[in-house]
Amino acid sequence: MERTDRYWVRDTDLASDGMKRIAWAEQRMPVVGAIRRRFERERPLKGVRVAACLHVTKETAALVRTLVSGGAEVSLCASNPLSTQDDVAAALVEEGVSVYAYRGMSESEYYECIGRALSIRPEITVDDGADLTVTVHKLAHRVQSPELSHVLTGMGDVQLAPEDIRGGTEETTTGVTRLRALEREGRLLYPIIAVNDSPTKSLFDNPLGTGQSTIDAIMRSTGVLLAGKRFVVFGYGRVGSGIAARARGMGAEVIVVEVNPVRALMAAMEGYRVMGSKDAAKTGDIFVTATGNIGVIRREHMELMKDGAILANAGHYDVEVSLGDLRSLAESVEEISPSVERFRTKDGRNIYLLAKGRLVNLVAAEGHPSEVMDLSFSLQALSVELLARERERLPSRVLDVPPEVDRAVAELKLDSMGITIDEMTEEQLRYVNEWKLGTS
Ligand code: ADE
Repeated sequence: MERTDRYWVRDTDLASDGMKRIAWAEQRMPVVGAIRRRFERERPLKGVRVAACLHVTKETAALVRTLVSGGAEVSLCASNPLSTQDDVAAALVEEGVSVYAYRGMSESEYYECIGRALSIRPEITVDDGADLTVTVHKLAHRVQSPELSHVLTGMGDVQLAPEDIRGGTEETTTGVTRLRALEREGRLLYPIIAVNDSPTKSLFDNPLGTGQSTIDAIMRSTGVLLAGKRFVVFGYGRVGSGIAARARGMGAEVIVVEVNPVRALMAAMEGYRVMGSKDAAKTGDIFVTATGNIGVIRREHMELMKDGAILANAGHYDVEVSLGDLRSLAESVEEISPSVERFRTKDGRNIYLLAKGRLVNLVAAEGHPSEVMDLSFSLQALSVELLARERERLPSRVLDVPPEVDRAVAELKLDSMGITIDEMTEEQLRYVNEWKLGTS
């Protein structure tokens, strides 16, 4: 590990490997590239201090380089202790970015790194999961919380000035849910643009990105044949439905477990078997959680599982598979490979846990493909630009990405794919804007 005032990373010698992989990602992120070229010309973020808490991947590097091209000063910390790509972190350090991220950090180091990122005294926060934003709010509202001592250690002598923060963005469903709870309590201190909720993000990144990368992670770490397996997906939201579709595409027999009747009905009508969690536990071979909730796979399920069952989590936090229950059921735990642990139960069964129950697609694979992050991170870059520009007008609420930004990103992406689409005729435009016309 290398630590200076400006960075904490695993090994700066990895920078040239990281740069090659960033170039690979950027080649597949044409919309971010177009925004970057405009930012280079217009410098809309000149001198703006941005603290970002994101999975430190080659795609995140493309976003950070875009913000820097726009003139921003960026500090970056990891949004998950196990998802950092160390070569990418090293490459960003070489580019002059302040990076506090290395794969395999402890919980206290994770929060110290958040403190280091905050020591820039940000004017804009960019977050994935809301740990950074919530930390700012806990400090500002003087909420006692054990992790804050580590944050303060990371910040050193720097005093945070929450009043300097003109806004933030949030990348993921879990983060938006947390920030809406903060808003409901009337304690949100600055506007948050919910990038997650924008159609160009949630219709693509959530199902397609998580769908593909979750399957990728299971295959990379276990190599099991998916065809013919009973593949249980917990949660049929945007993410879960994407995983289910991809697993079905690989020939698995997909079973959905849901608590929401509308979603359960949708899964059933889309041709999946839908059943209660205990029945699914008895019959499944592979289990993936994607609910955003806690204690989804618990002791009562683990007790029913077959010998050889594989468990993975695709939700943001490592709370969906109850790790305490798994440990207490086990008489021994053995690491089979860096992303696979075998829990041998007292009654002689083996249950395999992937990625320590953390976000499997980022820990056991490389996260969403660049092509899909092109959309999400274009929205991030444009949302940061909006916050930098429109400080006075935005209220301290959780806000949507403006629809015109969403459209612009979709248009640029279509253009990059060589796809042209029709426009409505004058007659059609008039028709859809007219209320008097009906049955004729
Ligand atoms: N979240 C999911 N996939 C990601 C990726 N490739 N980079 C950054 N954040 C992500």
